[in-house]
Parts: sequence; structure tokens; C-alpha cells
Amino acid sequence: MSQFDSALTSAAFNADPYPVYRQMREEAPVYWSDAWGCWMLTRYDDIAWTLQDYQTFTSLGRLTATMDLPEPLWERVEPLVRHYSQGLINVDPPDHTRMRKLVHMAFTPRTIRKMQAYIEDIVDRLIDEQIESGEMDVIWDFSYPLPVTVIAEMMGIPVEDHAKFKAWSGEIVAFMATPKPTPEILLNSQDSLLAMQQYFRDIYAKRRRQPEDDLITALVLAELEGDKLTEEEMVSSCVTILIGGHETTTYLIANGLYWLLQHPDQFRRLSEKPELAESATEEFLRYDGPFQRNRRIATRDVTIGDHTIEKGQLIMQLLGAANRDPAQFPDPDALDIARSPNKHLAFGYGPHFCLGAPLARLEAPVAYRSLLGRLRNIRIADDSLEWNNALFRGLKSLPIIFEPL
Ligand code: HEM
Repeated sequence: MSQFDSALTSAAFNADPYPVYRQMREEAPVYWSDAWGCWMLTRYDDIAWTLQDYQTFTSLGRLTATMDLPEPLWERVEPLVRHYSQGLINVDPPDHTRMRKLVHMAFTPRTIRKMQAYIEDIVDRLIDEQIESGEMDVIWDFSYPLPVTVIAEMMGIPVEDHAKFKAWSGEIVAFMATPKPTPEILLNSQDSLLAMQQYFRDIYAKRRRQPEDDLITALVLAELEGDKLTEEEMVSSCVTILIGGHETTTYLIANGLYWLLQHPDQFRRLSEKPELAESATEEFLRYDGPFQRNRRIATRDVTIGDHTIEKGQLIMQLLGAANRDPAQFPDPDALDIARSPNKHLAFGYGPHFCLGAPLARLEAPVAYRSLLGRLRNIRIADDSLEWNNALFRGLKSLPIIFEPL
């Protein structure tokens, strides 16, 4: 096993990956991991470059690259491999440019801004439901239902189905959480993927017959110079938007509140100046973002630092490590909710820059302003919190007690 592999798979790393990131960045910034079967990058500049330069670092096939399966199994997981070899997030320009323009026509910053009042209502309602009791689990009572309700409303799908989305999303992404997923994990992920695809195919058919005022209809209707998304492209975009659209924001909001509670000076600062909620959100994304491991594949032999990455090898971009790189961020381990500039890479960089960033940037500040504005004396009610770092980094639950303001 290579140098950092046991640290990278340890429970301590799950709880706090940043000391390991720092050591890797200092001692082996371009590190080959036997456990993950890929190169791991920890420097800001390397990660920004590899996110941007799609000709040298492709997104195609990146999620299935480390799958190590006997021949007959490859056939059985064909739908999963197919899904991850196409669709917005898995292809490069020019295919990506075309698809992104079409998806963007439906998912515009304007459509997102229109959600502001709706988001404020849900935030208030979720807090109303807990305020009398003086306690809540931030994740399960607040930061999970918020984005899932918003994305369901935007897409025009019944919020009652959210238990289904949650189960499917969790299982679909489960295969990305381990370096070499077993056939059982892969087939499980695939079953949920097929179920989610069928769910969106049915809605696609309904919206074609009867358009509604929602994102799926907008995707069905999006047309640019005679070009439209195919049914498969539209279904795969919906899968990406639904998966990307809820758990990431869940953990952004909850991690942010957790770190505020660990830094009473910053908590006080935000309570006194709620207008800092936007820049605080950027700092939480930098300081402990919910999505830590992104991937690309080298399309040619290429040198990064002192190492040659061979054509076809996978690289893992440790976004959380880039976001604590002292070459980019002065005093990177300090939480400063007014940090400026703050060019973090939590939403990626370059052509695949997160399409949902404006939505997350709308939801999180509303959430912080309301939580800090309506609750006081917030304390964590459990001293044995557990972190999850499978695909998304976040606490498994965050029980708090408080008094109404
Ligand atoms: C805190 C919240 C979020 C984080 C940290 C996050 C992170 C990311 C990152 C790092 C990428 C780039 C992946 C790459 O370069 O390969 C990405 C892409 C994407 N995200 Fe997000 N995301 C968040 C919220 C959302 C939301 C709310 C949505 C949708 C409602 C969304 C939808 C997407 C989509 C569709 C892409 C693909 C864009 C493309 O390939 O052109 N994300 N996200």
C-alpha cells in the first residue's frame, strides 16, 4: 500500500480530512494511490488546471474507470456504464457545450431567482414546525427537506416522492464511494438508476402531452437553432440535477451551521451582520465543502509536478484540499465569513462549473439568516457526531437545542 493510503481510508480521515490533505499537499502533491487506483491532486493550481483543460483531462468514462469486473459482468452493468459515459456532467465540449446551452435555457439564473420567496416560505415553515419543541435535527428536520422540496417544486415532481428520490440517489452514488465497487454494489446502484430513469421518462412523456410551468417542461421545450435534447439526454440531465440538487445543499447548510457553532466569534459576527450570509456561504463552501472528490482521466501522457500521468489514468481532484491551499488562501485553516477574495473550487471550475450554484447560493444564506434570526442559544445536543465522507461530506445528523428568539 502506498504512503497515504491507510490515512485516506481511516475513520480519522472521515472525521477530519484536512490534516491528511495538508501533509499530502506538502509531501506528495501528485500522489499515486494504490487503494483508489488513481492519482490524487491536492494543490489548487493543479486542480484548477485539470478542471479547466478538458482536452487533456476528460470527463468521459471517469466514473467507471476503476471498475474491475470479470467480462460477463460488464454486460450486466451496461446501463450504468452507459449513463456515466454520456449526459451533461460526463461529456466534454463540444458535446457538452451543446447540451449545457440547452439545459441552461431551462435552468436560468432568472428561473432560480424566482424561487426566492418560495424558499423563504419553506425555511420559515420548517423552523415553525420545530420552534416550540426547542430542539431539531438540523439535517433531517431542516437542511434535507429544504433543498429536496425546492428542487421537487422546480422540476414539477411531487414532493411526497422524496423518500423515493432519497433512497434512489443514495444507492445510485454508492458505487462512487469505494475505490473498487463490488458487483453487488454496482448492480444495486444500477437498479436504482434504472428506477429513477423510468420515473423521469414517465414525466417526460406526460409533459410532452401536457406542458406545465416547470423545469422538466422547459427541458422538453428547450430548442436552439433546431436542436433539442433527446429523451435520453433529458432523462440523464434530470438524474444529475436531482442528485446534484439536494444532498450537496443539505450538507452545505448543516456543515456551515456546525462550523459556526465551533467558532462563536464568527457566529456572533453573522448574527450581528446578517448581510454577511452570502459571503459566509462562500466561506463554508471553501472551508468544508460537501463535495470533495472530483475526477478526470488523462487523454495523453502529461506531466503534473514531478510525475508523469499516463494516458488513460484516472486523477482525483481533492477539492477540499485545493480550498485549503495556502498558496491561494492566506491563513487557510481559519474560518473567516467575510473572506475576500474567495475563489474556492467547491463548485468546480471551467466548462462543468456547477449549474446549480446559483440555487445553492440562494438557499443557504436564506437558511442561515432565518436560523440565526429566529433561534438563540443554539447548542449541539450530542457530543458523538459522526461524519460521512462517502460521496458527499457531511454530518450524519446534527441535533441541536435552542430557545426561540
Ligand atoms: C453546495 C452545493 C453544490 C456543490 C458543492 C456542487 C458541486 C458541483 C461540482 C464540483 C460540479 C462540477 C463537476 C465536474 O467538474 O465534474 C457540479 C456540477 C453540476 N452541478 Fe452542482 N453542486 C452543488 C449544488 C447543485 C445544485 C443545487 C444543483 C441543481 C439543482 C446542481 C447541479 C449540477 C449540475 C447539473 C452539474 C453539471 C454541470 C455540467 O457538467 O456542465 N449542483 N456541481
